[in-house]
Amino acid sequence: MKKKQGLLWMLLNLIVVEGVHSCRITVASSVIQFGSPLSASCDCPHLRSSKSVVVWKLDKDFVPCNQTSDVQMSTCPLYFPNFNKTTGVLQCYLRRNDVLQLVDQTNIKAGYPPSPATNISCLMFISQNIVNCTWQLQRDSLLEENVTLSAFRSKDECETPSSAEYICNPPKGIHFCIIQRKYFNNFDDLAVRVTVQNKIGSAPSSLLCLKPLFEVKVDPIIIDDAVPHNDCVRLQWTYGKKANFLTAMRCQLHYKMATEIEWTKPIEIPVDVKTADQCGLLAATKYDFQVRCIRKFLTGQWSEWGPTRSMITAELAPAEKLESWWRTLESTQNGSLKIQLMWKKLEKNKANADHVWYIVKSSSDLHETNNILCNTTNLNCTIVLHEAMKSVFIWTYNNAGVSPVKEMTFPARIGTPVSKMLVSSNNDTSLQVMWDPPSSAEGYLLEWYKCTELPDCEMNWKTEQKGSMSSILQDIEPFQRYSVRLYPLYQDCIGMARETDAYSKEGAPDYSPEIRLLTVSKSQAVVQWDPIPVQKSNGFITNYTVFWTDTSGKENSSTVNGSTATYNITDLIPSTTYQVFLMSSTSGGSVNGTALMLHTANLDNEDINMLLLIFLLFGLFIIVSMITCILKHDRVKSRFWPVVPDPANSQMGKLTAFLKETPKMTFKTCDISQIITSELNIMEGCQMKNVPLGNKINDTLFDDYGHAYNKQISPEEDPNKSRYYVNVDTVQYAKVITGGYREQSPPTSVYVRSDSTQPLICDVSPSPQNYENTWFHFNNHEDSVFMVEGENMQDFPLLNALQLHQD
Ligand SMILES: *[C@@H]1O[C@H](CO)[C@@H](O)[C@H](O)[C@H]1NC(C)=O
Ligand SMILES: *[C@@H]1O[C@H](CO)[C@@H](O)[C@H](O)[C@H]1NC(C)=O
Ligand SMILES: *[C@@H]1O[C@H](CO)[C@@H](O)[C@H](O)[C@H]1NC(C)=O
Ligand SMILES: *[C@@H]1O[C@H](CO)[C@@H](O)[C@H](O)[C@H]1NC(C)=O
Ligand SMILES: *[C@@H]1O[C@H](CO)[C@@H](O)[C@H](O)[C@H]1NC(C)=O
Ligand SMILES: *[C@@H]1O[C@H](CO)[C@@H](O)[C@H](O)[C@H]1NC(C)=O
Ligand SMILES: *[C@@H]1O[C@H](CO)[C@@H](O)[C@H](O)[C@H]1NC(C)=O
Ligand SMILES: *[C@@H]1O[C@H](CO)[C@@H](O)[C@H](O)[C@H]1NC(C)=O
Ligand SMILES: *[C@@H]1O[C@H](CO)[C@@H](O)[C@H](O)[C@H]1NC(C)=O
Ligand SMILES: *[C@@H]1O[C@H](CO)[C@@H](O)[C@H](O)[C@H]1NC(C)=O
Ligand SMILES: *[C@@H]1O[C@H](CO)[C@@H](O)[C@H](O)[C@H]1NC(C)=O
Ligand SMILES: *[C@@H]1O[C@H](CO)[C@@H](O)[C@H](O)[C@H]1NC(C)=O
Repeated sequence: MKKKQGLLWMLLNLIVVEGVHSCRITVASSVIQFGSPLSASCDCPHLRSSKSVVVWKLDKDFVPCNQTSDVQMSTCPLYFPNFNKTTGVLQCYLRRNDVLQLVDQTNIKAGYPPSPATNISCLMFISQNIVNCTWQLQRDSLLEENVTLSAFRSKDECETPSSAEYICNPPKGIHFCIIQRKYFNNFDDLAVRVTVQNKIGSAPSSLLCLKPLFEVKVDPIIIDDAVPHNDCVRLQWTYGKKANFLTAMRCQLHYKMATEIEWTKPIEIPVDVKTADQCGLLAATKYDFQVRCIRKFLTGQWSEWGPTRSMITAELAPAEKLESWWRTLESTQNGSLKIQLMWKKLEKNKANADHVWYIVKSSSDLHETNNILCNTTNLNCTIVLHEAMKSVFIWTYNNAGVSPVKEMTFPARIGTPVSKMLVSSNNDTSLQVMWDPPSSAEGYLLEWYKCTELPDCEMNWKTEQKGSMSSILQDIEPFQRYSVRLYPLYQDCIGMARETDAYSKEGAPDYSPEIRLLTVSKSQAVVQWDPIPVQKSNGFITNYTVFWTDTSGKENSSTVNGSTATYNITDLIPSTTYQVFLMSSTSGGSVNGTALMLHTANLDNEDINMLLLIFLLFGLFIIVSMITCILKHDRVKSRFWPVVPDPANSQMGKLTAFLKETPKMTFKTCDISQIITSELNIMEGCQMKNVPLGNKINDTLFDDYGHAYNKQISPEEDPNKSRYYVNVDTVQYAKVITGGYREQSPPTSVYVRSDSTQPLICDVSPSPQNYENTWFHFNNHEDSVFMVEGENMQDFPLLNALQLHQD
């Protein structure tokens, strides 16, 4: 850019123009406030006589001179009422004979006056012995800014400086200044001011007056000592390096379990106390602690939270009795019972230790050592309960002590059960149990276990509060059948259990049982199968479907309910092979089993005799029918197999060749109509009646031709049902169109009514009106006997002849 401008200037200097060197742009200021007016003029003192004109450009646009003051057009004064560009290049040109010549240029910058700095604050760092003052700048003035911090000591609340001023000019982008120890006294006032300057103006902040020692930020507090006792911890700390002379400080403490992330809310420590006892902590648990401090009057800033101090709290004796339950495993002959005792693990805040163990005794004396039934870390213990023993006693031990004793009695489970209980799936891994609560129940106990693990299954159990009506059983495996038992707990006894089986999620069975054939006869087969064991069924079997398919692939099926294990297949065809298989369904899906081939029994003698009889009767019937046919041969023949003549093989057919060669018949078109539209008498078989043909065509011609008419079958009718036209003496019409063929208007005389009752040869087509020739335009191959020249004509010699004559 600069290079370019330089080149331009060189060029300009080469061209020596009158007055060029003396032209100068005059502006009041090249840095102005954004939006304020701007005046400029381009003064060329030696130009007055010349014909050159001054022209302005701002950046790339020409700018007109101020129109109103055309007194001195040669200076061309420029005036912007509000200059709204942040930067602009103002150029002055001389125009002579349409040639522009740059004579001077200047950069204009516009911006805002500076805004004073805000949030000025100073902190004294005791360990470093410095005061660090920070501030924030407001709106960007768009112009180069100069920030200056000035500070001085004072003894009269910053009225008058008592020492030389300290000046700090931080580089651009740095918003703090460090005041060294020699510019302040700990207890003397320190006056601080921040001034922001730019080309437009200067903005000093208000004066900040502070006592450095009151604006202290101490170093992070280090906890020197942490001692656990009971459920408490005693902590001790100092105010940090070089800060122990400080007084009137207040501190805060926060802590968390080592496994957690969130700290507790800060806990206030009394002023100037450098120790704290934090209680209410869990026993045998690792905790983290941190401390921070500030001046008593909350001037200055909180120190950063100090480094974390961790420690493990002390163990305590278990605080609570165990929650327990039992089940009878077996009762021996001599009246003693084998009983499994079960209890729940204590919560961490009750066990008060990571490691606990349990001791079961038959006496309540803690210190007696010979009555120990179990000493275990497990949550169960199997004992033999003799008749004399009415109860047992359980303690939880840890390294710090022993819990209160829990006495277990074993009342009979004979109270009233809950009246209704419903177990349903809650989601894939949990079950929901609902029941009608008996009013006198003090609580409930739920037992559940996987049925597939009986009898030595691991039993799960839980208690529910008095008044509750439902419970969610967690950690249920899908596709496993669970038995759920509910005992109501009464004041002095335990209610009878109500038991239900349930799945949290059902699926198709693992397999479908194989079918066994029990009996098979001609038309029935009884099949049997083994029920699917609970482990493999993945759900309650709702039904079985028996499928049987014969050799032709025809499939039959029948559904029976899931408790059935046999099926009687009926209506089978004797002596046939069937494929039989079983589909087993649960509400979660179905699975098909392997197929069994079964062959139904052959027919026995009785059946064969029966069949023979039927065959004989049928044969007899056929023979009788055949005799009838032979005797009445002709009638039968004519009824079922009418003679179909072949026109192509007729004598007329042979004649065509001859006709083609014969010279044209020598009658006119109109005559033909007269000739041809005669009465056509049709004969049956060889009988010929009354054939008065008034033309030259041989009688023999008509023999076959007549038959051809007779055998005409309407294509729209079923050929099998084709009518056989019995000849009558007169036909109602026999009309041959001669003249009206193809666009020619037929002569009226052509239409002569006949008495023939026989349908026209191609009567199958929709009959056109006389004036229409559409019939001929149908190009249906079946119908267009007359249209397809050559082919069909060959078969209808008479028509062929007519065709020839027309030509
Ligand atoms: C420019 O013209 C305006 C009126 O349009 C006038 O007020 C102003 O004084 C003129 N400026 C100069 C520098 O002549
Ligand atoms: C700047 O001012 C000129 C007239 O002086 C006006 O035409 C233009 O729209 C203004 N631009 C902005 C961005 O305000
Ligand atoms: C600066 O001061 C203003 C008001 O005085 C306040 O709202 C703002 O949070 C302060 N900013 C900082 C970073 O302290
Ligand atoms: C002064 O304070 C500023 C802002 O908090 C910080 O960035 C800077 O590091 C401090 N300087 C010293 C020497 O502590
Ligand atoms: C900024 O202030 C310093 C010290 O007063 C001075 O030397 C310097 O010229 C100033 N710069 C500007 C751009 O005002
Ligand atoms: C009968 O009880 C006694 C203890 O009273 C026991 O030692 C014995 O094993 C029991 N007998 C059986 C068969 O359980
Ligand atoms: C229970 O067993 C533990 C470990 O085996 C043993 O230290 C403890 O003394 C036993 N308690 C009693 C009462 O026997
Ligand atoms: C099933 O339901 C239980 C109890 O409502 C819930 O705790 C568990 O997260 C659920 N599981 C799934 C897989 O949704
Ligand atoms: C008894 O407790 C042990 C250890 O917790 C466990 O492995 C076992 O399955 C439990 N026995 C029964 C029958 O619940
Ligand atoms: C099978 O069904 C048929 C017809 O219902 C009956 O006659 C037959 O006795 C049944 N067989 C068995 C084994 O139930
Ligand atoms: C058989 O059981 C399945 C699954 O529960 C069910 O969809 C189907 O309707 C049952 N079929 C009959 C005939 O009951
Ligand atoms: C079992 O076979 C029957 C009959 O072929 C079919 O309709 C059904 O979809 C099959 N079921 C499965 C689970 O494949």
